[in-house]
Parts: sequence; C-alpha cells; structure tokens
Amino acid sequence: MADEVLRFLEPQRGGIYLDGTLGGAGHARLILEATYPDGVLIGMDHDAAALAAAKSSLAVFGDRVILRQGNFSDMDAHLDFLEIDLLDGILLDLGVSSHQLDSAERGFSFREEGPLDMRMNPATGVSAATVVAEAEAGELKRIFREYGEERWAGKIARAIVMDREQTPFLTTLQLADLISRVVPASKGPQRIHPATRVFQALRIHVNGELESLRAGLDTAWKRLKTGGRLVVISFHSLEDRMVKQTFRALATGCICPRRLAVCACGHQPEVRVLTRKAVRATEDEININPRSRSAVLRAMEKLPVKGNQNV
Ligand SMILES: C[S@@+](CC[C@H](N)C(=O)[O-])C[C@H]1O[C@@H](n2cnc3c(N)ncnc32)[C@H](O)[C@@H]1O
Repeated sequence: MADEVLRFLEPQRGGIYLDGTLGGAGHARLILEATYPDGVLIGMDHDAAALAAAKSSLAVFGDRVILRQGNFSDMDAHLDFLEIDLLDGILLDLGVSSHQLDSAERGFSFREEGPLDMRMNPATGVSAATVVAEAEAGELKRIFREYGEERWAGKIARAIVMDREQTPFLTTLQLADLISRVVPASKGPQRIHPATRVFQALRIHVNGELESLRAGLDTAWKRLKTGGRLVVISFHSLEDRMVKQTFRALATGCICPRRLAVCACGHQPEVRVLTRKAVRATEDEININPRSRSAVLRAMEKLPVKGNQNV
C-alpha cells in the first residue's frame, strides 16, 4: 500500500519520521525519497536480521537514517535515547514480513520444514515449540480461537496434547501435518491451508503482537507534533478493531452525558481521523501481492492542544 502510505503520511522535506516496523524497508525508502534532501527516518524493528538488511539497502541515504533494534511499543525509550522529542509522522505496518515468512528457518511457514520458532526477535521470549509443548489444552484452544478465529480450536488443542506425549512438536511440518489430519479440508473458492489459522494464532501469541500494538498506539500519538500523522496497516480483525477504537476515542470531544445541555467535561479531541472508512489495497495491488488482500490502513492527525473550553 505504498501510494496510500504516502498519501496519508504526507512526508515533508526536513521532517522526522519513525517507521516502527522497518521490515524490508520498502516504505522507509519511499519516505526517505519523499523527504529528500534533509528528512530523517528512524527505522525500528525487533528483528536483527531485518535491521542488518536495511542497513545496507538504506546506506545510500547516509546519516538521514537512524536504525534501532527494538519493539515499537518501546518507542518512548528509543526516542528519549536519541534526544528526539516529537515526530512528523509514524508508520506501523504490522505483522510479519514476506522475508520472515519465506525464511524456513524462522519457523513461520506451514509449507516448509523449519524449527517451530516464530519469534520475530529470536533472542527474547519463548518459541512456538515451547508454547505447543507446555500450554494446557484450554490455553491452546483459547490462543487458536482468539487469535486465529479457528473453528476447530478445541479439537486441534486436544490432538496436540495427546500427540505431544509421544513426540514433542519441534518442527513446522510436524504441527502442520497434525492439523491437516484433524481438521476437515475447507471448501469454497478461497480454500486456505488447514494450518493457516493456527500458525497465525501462535505467531500473534508468541510475539505478543496485540500487547505491543496496544502500547504502541497509546504512545505514538503523544510523540507526534501538531499536524503529525500516524498511519497503521493491520492484517487481522483484532488489530484493526483496536486501531479503529483507539482513533475514535482520541478523536472524541465532549464526553458528557447527553442530558447535560452544556458541556461540563471540557474533553477535547486529541486527533482527527483521516480515514473515515478503512482503506484497502486495490485489485491491481492484490494481483501483484496477494498478501495485501487482508491489509487495512487507518490514519490520524494530531490536533493542536486547545485551552480548556470549560473555564
Ligand atoms: C509487514 S513487515 C513491514 C514491511 C515494511 N513496511 C516494508 O516496507 O518492507 C513487519 C515488520 O515489522 C516487524 N515488527 C512487527 N511487530 C513489531 C514490533 N512490535 N516492534 C518492532 N518491529 C515489529 C517485523 O519483524 C517485520 O520485519
């Protein structure tokens, strides 16, 4: 969604932008080009491999690029470290990158054999193999149902708990094969691999993706200058709901009960929502990049602080 990101972020010369999900640095490059010659881009990713690749691919932009390894939920600490107070724009393009998905050794793919890991930062947290080995059936069911909207969550969870007593699940295909055996094949034109939802759910759980988004959204708007913009691309309905509700709450003015004729709360909107409806990828883009089919973009702009109207 390159065009849409630029349209809503409106990167300007001389601006300071944070790409909290640097990944393959495609959006970062566009922002750097659009802010030529003096815009600055802070690129964050908690995957060291993504940062190492970005370091060489963005080298042509010299000291206009600052790279930080970390979770965007910790952007406050990183910005404080860099002695940067407020930003002109922030981009969060959530989830995994194509490169992570395609790297079998990272364990995100149910189509290729690899260790059942799924951590975006393999140096922290616990792997998917550990979750699958140690979580109780009820917890596995909750993860598959909540994060994967998996209809057969209970059946899959019970099968895992039974099978793991014989052999631990250490690889991607081991788990994918079990799911294929347990789940009836999906019907209809858009048939997906039976392991799709469970793999997505484990990835979201292992990486604490919803917790990071919650913390990131709570912080990001405070780090924007007046007129600064936040653009978020999500791929999951739970993420999109969180983004939508957060934007709506921040854009709400008076929160007094309706029965009051005069505002008593003095509550002011902090932001203006720029996307009344979710923005989706065009058919052309979906044809080139099928993953963009589930991408949903929302954007907001920080409003000036107004005096308390109640006084
Ligand atoms: C969808 S890709 C981003 C692609 C990127 N916009 C581009 O143009 O190539 C998501 C990237 O964000 C990283 N990521 C996901 N959640 C993160 C988080 N909470 N903090 C930091 N990086 C995160 C992943 O490691 C992955 O590299």
